[in-house]
Amino acid sequence: MSSHTAHKQYEKEGKPIAFSPEILEKVKQIIKRYPEGRQNSALLPVLHIAQEEFGGYLSVDVMDYVASLLHIKPIEVYEVSTFYTQYYPEKRGKYMIEVCHTGPCAICGGEHISKRLQEKLGVKLNQTTADGLFTIKEVECLGACGFAPVMQINTEFYEKLTPEKIDTIIDDLKQRASEPQPQQQKWVERFF
Ligand code: FES
Repeated sequence: MSSHTAHKQYEKEGKPIAFSPEILEKVKQIIKRYPEGRQNSALLPVLHIAQEEFGGYLSVDVMDYVASLLHIKPIEVYEVSTFYTQYYPEKRGKYMIEVCHTGPCAICGGEHISKRLQEKLGVKLNQTTADGLFTIKEVECLGACGFAPVMQINTEFYEKLTPEKIDTIIDDLKQRASEPQPQQQKWVERFF
């Protein structure tokens, strides 16, 4: 292990940061897929897992912990996590709603989708509802232009949207909010 990470204790909100033994084992398997000295190639999947395991966002200490696992410098983790919009630096809702606002979706009514979401949830873009359930933001092309307009909520895609469908989707998520996240939607399962 490199000297800059040797004895540091990682904490978040007063609690030590560490993957459970089971998840740590899976993370180690992901890291082993890459040759010695290239462990930073595992950074994207490990960051997804860390974000999911440690409250839905990447605090500095969480990123430092990930750096220690990959034997890389913390700055290398910060550079990557701030480049990709899939990683969040702050607390967000249980459901992160990302609405595509790029050309094809915009032509097919994406603006109405974004507007309806904001009306339905009573928040503006980049805000989180008071109950901590939903955050909305607009993003660039989600790669599903043929099914425009499109949004992504956590790991799930919702396609060919209409304002009416938005109402149904949000009502359904509210009803299921207390249920645990389905195993198949967890990042740690998706990488195996
Ligand atoms: S433009 Fe919306 S998914 Fe590509």
